[in-house]
Amino acid sequence: MKAFLLRQTGGAEQLHLEEVPKPNIQANEVLVKVKAISINPVDVYVRKDSNALKAFMLPKDNQEVFILGWDMAGIVEETGADVRDFKQGDLVFGLINFRGAGNTYAEYVAAPVSQLALIPNNISFEEAAAACLAALTAWQALVVHAKLQPGEKVLIHAAAGGVGHYAVPIAKHLGAYVVGTASADNKEFVLSLGADEFVDYQKQKVEEIVTDADVVLDPMYGDHLFRSIEAVKSGGRIISLLTDFKGAIGEAARAKGVWGYHMGVASNGNDMQQIASLLERNIIRSHINASYNFVELPKAHQHQDAGNRRGKIVVKM
Ligand SMILES: NC(=O)c1ccc[n+]([C@@H]2O[C@H](COP(=O)([O-])OP(=O)(O)OC[C@H]3O[C@@H](n4cnc5c(N)ncnc54)[C@H](OP(=O)(O)O)[C@@H]3O)[C@@H](O)[C@H]2O)c1
Repeated sequence: MKAFLLRQTGGAEQLHLEEVPKPNIQANEVLVKVKAISINPVDVYVRKDSNALKAFMLPKDNQEVFILGWDMAGIVEETGADVRDFKQGDLVFGLINFRGAGNTYAEYVAAPVSQLALIPNNISFEEAAAACLAALTAWQALVVHAKLQPGEKVLIHAAAGGVGHYAVPIAKHLGAYVVGTASADNKEFVLSLGADEFVDYQKQKVEEIVTDADVVLDPMYGDHLFRSIEAVKSGGRIISLLTDFKGAIGEAARAKGVWGYHMGVASNGNDMQQIASLLERNIIRSHINASYNFVELPKAHQHQDAGNRRGKIVVKM
């Protein structure tokens, strides 16, 4: 089969399309013929940076060649000896082995069935591949960790991005009042997702407009969390995607009685089934910002690296 291999961290040109053996499956895995992949910011971090590669891919001793990628949608071609819930021909999607080796930049992937869900009939492979890591992050942040309740106010930073464009409709579905931030040209998009209020973070300080959020979803680096601490009410919850609640940030959160949690998304088939159900009922929709052919995968990386302004970047086989 063909797969993109990375032997050395660096630019997108380090991703080389080569011929490799198809993966062998374990008893609890299926072999999936990949039909679409999606690209996340973490894919770019691991391609560029050897520490990120180690932290997210958890390489074996002396491993020198990597197949990146975690999001995929495809068709089950073979099932392992213990697999009961999936059969040959099923259309499946999932976040594979995160953290660890997902190996989805390939024509075939060995996928643990505990990480998969069936793709609803109304959803394309590209839309399904888009709704893996980013949609799971939105779900796990708001439902699993923040336990967002009806009537609560939630502030979602970067509401137009991969995570944000799933988080806004999930929060609305849960009955929350949603404030979304993005730059001005994403205003209509964020409102179309169901946000009750839009804040242009380039023109306004969101913490001067929102000071009483029950929950904040913050996907930014570093000191941005101080702004979320200002925007959340005393006793509120902040889910951070990039920054720890250590040092001065932790102290500021504690001083206000704020519960802060730095989450890491995890592969989870039960949560994927929730995502499948939300897609099937059109409660969430994947917005495909750009779609590349498999041979153009390095271009998809360059696009994500240059900035993904809206929804998801996907690669189709
Ligand atoms: N911890 C975890 O488990 C986890 C999981 C998923 C993602 N993440 C991280 O979360 C971040 C977001 O991921 P993503 O997939 O949503 O990225 P993405 O698809 O690349 O989206 C980025 C979005 O950020 C917006 N943006 C940039 N600066 C902003 C600011 N100061 N305020 C508000 N919005 C801003 C952009 O909107 P405009 O163009 O309108 O500015 C764009 O829509 C990434 O760093 C990613 O690595 C972490």
